[in-house]
Amino acid sequence: MTAVVDDLGTAFERTIADEQRIEPRDWMPDGYRRTMIRQIAQHAHSEIIGMQPEGEWITRAPSLRRKAILLAKAQAEAGPALYLSSAAETLGADRGDLTRRLIEGRQKYSSIFNYPTLNFADVGVIGWLVDGAAIVNQVPLCRCSYGPYARAMVRVCKEESFHQRQGFEILHTLCNGTPGQKAMAQDALDRWWWPSLMMFGPPDSASTHSEQSMAWGIKRHSNDELRQRFVDMTVPQADVLGLRVPDDGLSYDEETGHYRFTEPDYTELYDVVKGNGPCNEERLAHRVKAHEDGAWVREAAAAYASKQRVKEGAA
Ligand code: ACO
Repeated sequence: MTAVVDDLGTAFERTIADEQRIEPRDWMPDGYRRTMIRQIAQHAHSEIIGMQPEGEWITRAPSLRRKAILLAKAQAEAGPALYLSSAAETLGADRGDLTRRLIEGRQKYSSIFNYPTLNFADVGVIGWLVDGAAIVNQVPLCRCSYGPYARAMVRVCKEESFHQRQGFEILHTLCNGTPGQKAMAQDALDRWWWPSLMMFGPPDSASTHSEQSMAWGIKRHSNDELRQRFVDMTVPQADVLGLRVPDDGLSYDEETGHYRFTEPDYTELYDVVKGNGPCNEERLAHRVKAHEDGAWVREAAAAYASKQRVKEGAA
């Protein structure tokens, strides 16, 4: 038996070393399976809870055009949640169990969605910064060693690119509008800059999973590398908008070709992740209510599916 596991382990290691994909039928170490389920589930939960901060503005969007765009954008987050949940199922996870874990606080979702959206400029900043950070984080995940997750990411990244552009367009409009509108955009950037940097997770020195996840080809870059990539991408975009990134320590380093920036306050990240952010309670309560209100839909869908199976069996 040990020899069989050794062979399987060698085959797994070779697949990773050859940059091939691990597929659901393949043997994988328990730790790899657990890590993939944890990351994919957290990601799926984030897509669903992430609909809330923007969703609050659907009825208050400033025009019919903005309302239609925002409605489509918030709805579009459900698609990635679906592909991600399906990817988690290929690892043997049960979707209902993943939801229970979230509700019972045993599984996380992204810290960023625990901040409030105070005005419509926040909707623009979420598209520009939050979806922008998501792209930086998720493009390398298209090369993740787990096949179903990597393939889901290709589609998710296409959608995120579109979302990022719609956010930038809102800000572009505000920044070329009245002084009051420009001030709204600056205020939103001031509030969302630091939480956006925190999305990439703790610094490398404090990241629990990075080393193993990188060895397994799950993560392709460390948290700090991706954070740096995000800053390098975003600062010139803020310049185009005429907005000031709220970091007195920000400067361009000619030698390295990167921006130097101040690290976010990671104690705030840990606090938000522990459940003490400004909106944690509200976000989770809303998620629980939506889950309970949707029970009849799940029951009806299951009843319909079992009737179909009986019909197909009889045919
Ligand atoms: N919010 C909440 N929890 C976080 C965050 C964050 N921004 N960053 C790190 N954590 C958690 C990790 O989940 C881990 O906790 P756990 O062991 O209980 O799961 C702990 O902090 C330590 O962090 P790391 O060891 O660095 O964790 P990991 O290697 O998983 O890296 C990262 C974190 C970068 C978020 C990774 O999981 C990832 O790339 N996930 C996929 C992308 C994703 O989930 N995006 C969600 C938001 S994007 C969007 O929906 C628009």
